[in-house]
Amino acid sequence: MSTLHSNHEIANLPRVAVLGAGTMGAGIAGVFAALGYPVCLFSRSQSTLDIARKKIETRTNAEMQVEYTSSLQDCVDGADIVTENLAEDVLLKQRIFAEIESLVSRECLLSTNTSSVPITTIAEKLERPERVVGIHWFNPPAVMPLVEIVRGEKTADDVVQRARELCAAIGKEVIEVKTDVAGFVVNRLQYAILREALHLVSAGVASIEDVDRAVETTLAPRWSAAGPLRLMDMAGLDTVEKVSGILMPALDRGEAVPPLVRSLCKEGAFGTKSGRGFYPWTEEGGAAAISRRDETVRLLTERRKL
Ligand SMILES: NC(=O)c1ccc[n+]([C@@H]2O[C@H](COP(=O)([O-])OP(=O)(O)OC[C@H]3O[C@@H](n4cnc5c(N)ncnc54)[C@H](O)[C@@H]3O)[C@@H](O)[C@H]2O)c1
Repeated sequence: MSTLHSNHEIANLPRVAVLGAGTMGAGIAGVFAALGYPVCLFSRSQSTLDIARKKIETRTNAEMQVEYTSSLQDCVDGADIVTENLAEDVLLKQRIFAEIESLVSRECLLSTNTSSVPITTIAEKLERPERVVGIHWFNPPAVMPLVEIVRGEKTADDVVQRARELCAAIGKEVIEVKTDVAGFVVNRLQYAILREALHLVSAGVASIEDVDRAVETTLAPRWSAAGPLRLMDMAGLDTVEKVSGILMPALDRGEAVPPLVRSLCKEGAFGTKSGRGFYPWTEEGGAAAISRRDETVRLLTERRKL
């Protein structure tokens, strides 16, 4: 078990209700459980709960306290914190929050892990929309060091503060997204790069392998040492000014789903999970690439702490 909390603290940790037992819900339940938080995990289907239980039990140790339920009411009963991880569907999220609002105490922290639905929209049907905050995790939750705390238009300051305290208690770094923009911060940055990478490949400027190599050898190592704004200071803003004048008009500004991604999806080429994407994948090759990714993130996260 992690040493973030002492034994005495563990006895008094808040109860966490995790709604949704898919990729993120199971991962997040595992993070809290491994730290000693009492966790109740909800899914409407028993088979999803069984898969989640296997994942959690193989990744964490036996001391943890996780309950599994297909009753939403039982899951949130007595909860101090709710983290919602249901499918990315506006109406579903609105309905679930409306349903739990009357079931939880007034003090319960209501968070959603939506990646793209505005927090304001999720909370708009509630009597007290000010109590909903976005706590956006990254996959896999046990490995990725950051969460984004997202303010809806009505989210109260003390709710944001409580979300911050929670994230500090579980050892996650935080960035605050001050307005409820689509994609928040991390995915906006990520998709700006993805758009240009796909454009370069589609236009025949460079091969798939070489675009990946450009990032893996040059941009990613530099970005792991310093973010883009710090790096611009190091490059010299006068240089950035000159280069921007030439490059900004040349970059891709397409608004549609990139055609290359669309055509691969049409062929059923979804990436590691289907055996083919931009590259061909065997099951073992895909699993090895995923564990290499996670191990690299772990190593870089440890280095940042030094
Ligand atoms: N996968 C990621 O990398 C990632 C990262 C950050 C945030 N998110 C967000 O987390 C949330 C969950 O994503 P995921 O990747 O875990 O998805 P998932 O498909 O693995 O899990 C979704 C869960 O919702 C349940 N569900 C679907 N429809 C339902 C309904 N009508 N009623 C009750 N339960 C229902 C499913 O049974 C499943 O357990 C989404 O909002 C997603 O945008 C995903």
